[in-house]
Amino acid sequence: MLTKVLKINDESLKIAKEYILNGEVVGFPTETVYGLAGIAYKDEAVKKIFEAKGRPQDNPLIVHVHEDYDVDKLVEVEFDYVYKLRELFTPGPLTMVYKSKGVVSPVATCGLDTIGIRIPKHEGAQKFLKAVDVPIAAPSANASKHTSPVTAEHVFEDLQGKIPLILDGGMCEGGIESTVLDVTTDTPIILRSGLITCEMIKNAVGKCEYSQNTMADKVRAPGMKYQHYTPKCKTALFGRNQIEEAKDYFIQNKQKGLRVVYMCDDGIASILGENCLNLGKNASEIAHNLYDALHKAESIADVLIAFDVETGSDVDVGIMNRLTKACQRIQMEKL
Ligand code: TXA
Ligand code: MG
Repeated sequence: MLTKVLKINDESLKIAKEYILNGEVVGFPTETVYGLAGIAYKDEAVKKIFEAKGRPQDNPLIVHVHEDYDVDKLVEVEFDYVYKLRELFTPGPLTMVYKSKGVVSPVATCGLDTIGIRIPKHEGAQKFLKAVDVPIAAPSANASKHTSPVTAEHVFEDLQGKIPLILDGGMCEGGIESTVLDVTTDTPIILRSGLITCEMIKNAVGKCEYSQNTMADKVRAPGMKYQHYTPKCKTALFGRNQIEEAKDYFIQNKQKGLRVVYMCDDGIASILGENCLNLGKNASEIAHNLYDALHKAESIADVLIAFDVETGSDVDVGIMNRLTKACQRIQMEKL
């Protein structure tokens, strides 16, 4: 199958709509990462998403709708704080997991009685969702386990030949996936951290907790048990106080004839000097650049040496969640 990459305009949206309504799957941008869209009502379309990604069958998909769509056609609201969260954070990088009305394909929700709904803010995403005007199931548009895509090129690298179309809306602003928040309990629970932080939710509705990593919560957030975000090169994650060890590790690998690159924030980059993928100065810059840097690292290096991020922002939780899954924590005794 030939995979077309088209900038978002009236013409390409028309083509995308035709594909979607015919049960095909299409790549599209959001403000977090690129998604792989299929009509959420059709089992066959949703199956194509799982196939194209090589995604495990028990990891449910988020359903995306445009800002004028009546979400309550799909979900039951059980707690009033949900209305406040909708008002403040949607459209935006927040997915709320509700009790489902069972309207969409059970293939999308993996047969769960809950459903994750997201209303993305990205202008191109809104145009696409309004053009199709049906609920769209969409995971991140990467091959399962690989680093999430933040450009149309990243989607093309992973899914070329498997999908007919990628809508190109430039590089994603946010850079890490939406916060996934369980709103089926009296206190909202963060299942996956993102740019809408625990602090922001607490400030808005007075309560919010992180999910504990218990077996029960593994069922609640099925995706969290899988390996994720890994680039194709070897990785090593160091603490912020391990700069000398990291330099030794760099030299050891260089001596083996390997290509090595560092990935760190601006502070550590200024100490290391060269050979750095610099993620930036603050949490928003770092989140924005993280996946793009992981993609760059795998294309230019055999070994990526990454450093923990600590900016003092609540967004660090989401960044470190991705970083520790993408990169192997280096054990001191191995050095
Ligand atoms: O920013 C994002 O959320 C992107 C863009 C494309 O919207 N999407 C995304 O989808 O990251 P995906 O499939 O890569 O991650 C969805 C996460 C998974 O961890 C999944 O287990 C969880 O959301 N999830 C989806 N539905 C759920 C449900 N009903 N209950 C619990 N977790 C759910
Ligand atoms: Mg994903």
